[in-house]
Amino acid sequence: MGKFRTLDDLGDLTGKVALVRVDLNMPMSDGAVTDLTRAEASRPTVLELAAKGAKVLLLSHFGRPKGERNSTMSVSMAQGALEQVLGCEVMFIPEVAGPVAAQAIDILRPGDVGLLENTRFWPGEEANDMDFARAIAANADLFVNDAFSAAHRAHASTEALAHLLPAYAGRSMEAELKALDAALGNPQPPVAAVVGGAKVSSKLAVLEHLVGKVQHLIIGGGMANTFLAARGVDVGKSLCEHDLAAKAEAIMQAADAAGCTVHLPYDVVVAKEFAANPPSLRICNVHEVAVDEMILDVGPLAVEALGDVLKTCATLVWNGPLGAFETPPFDNATVALARMAAALTAEGSLISVAGGGDTVAALNHAGAAGDFTFVSTAGGAFLEWMEGRELPGVAALTTA
Ligand code: 3PG
Repeated sequence: MGKFRTLDDLGDLTGKVALVRVDLNMPMSDGAVTDLTRAEASRPTVLELAAKGAKVLLLSHFGRPKGERNSTMSVSMAQGALEQVLGCEVMFIPEVAGPVAAQAIDILRPGDVGLLENTRFWPGEEANDMDFARAIAANADLFVNDAFSAAHRAHASTEALAHLLPAYAGRSMEAELKALDAALGNPQPPVAAVVGGAKVSSKLAVLEHLVGKVQHLIIGGGMANTFLAARGVDVGKSLCEHDLAAKAEAIMQAADAAGCTVHLPYDVVVAKEFAANPPSLRICNVHEVAVDEMILDVGPLAVEALGDVLKTCATLVWNGPLGAFETPPFDNATVALARMAAALTAEGSLISVAGGGDTVAALNHAGAAGDFTFVSTAGGAFLEWMEGRELPGVAALTTA
């Protein structure tokens, strides 16, 4: 991991304008934020900068408005949630740059918090346009990036700004980078990775990277079917990317060569229809799946064995559910293994880091997220990091 400046490198900021890139791209329903996690992640940085006397100016994207103003995607919808989370007033400013923004920033007092409009209302954001970034930077003295979850985007507010102003990692960014380094950068071995989810095709690069990094690769979800099929197992009418059998086989061979054990389920939960608690549900050996059945979860014996694998490991990185966890009882394997990982973490024998889309929902559903060492706020950025890719927003902060 490269070096980057943090808030520890900042002294008194009275009257200085700190531009803070946060990720307020939060789930909403009827104009209200339904999951405050990302707003909460920004709190330590915002409050610390405010306490140092800065005028704190928040900058974020929301949704994908494609370079045009769109009232249904105004960041102002997050204003109330932010005020609730921060415990202070937040002034919404319907611009990101220009005289209106400058006047509003002038009104802010040291320690006040302002919220700029959705960066993606301007085409310069996604184009990573230097002039657009310069216009934003003109109103600020320093830049803090606290949005790891947007760091895989090379956009003006995540990348260019870091080159135009003295740039710092915020507390959430810093925590993400440290946790991810402990999980895959410089982990304590043996390391296990759980990779689940529907499709191999969306996680090929992740799997290819992990086999060279971890000692145990636990594959679950629909993607396990593709690996089973590649090994000659008849998976019936399970979700399966048969055209990727050769890729799956190549990943297993690369794993063998690298000393990484690939764990596929040997018992599975199957049903003839995908519905909650279907009457056709049964548990069987992977070699006994009937032509009209589909695999919907990892079986209890395999989960028990996976728990034993985790007991031998010092580090765990987890992305994706093991089964169709949104539909009961196909959440059983995910819940059971997540709880085992949480218990091992609580005992102190495992460092556990999880992230990416469905994963956080699955761990919350299992009641296990609180006991994991670290749960990332990131979706796509977490996956790109698991692929071993450099994230532009992180690279731009790196000083050496
Ligand atoms: C996310 O929700 O993963 C980030 O906010 C990035 O959003 P994007 O995929 O629209 O760039």
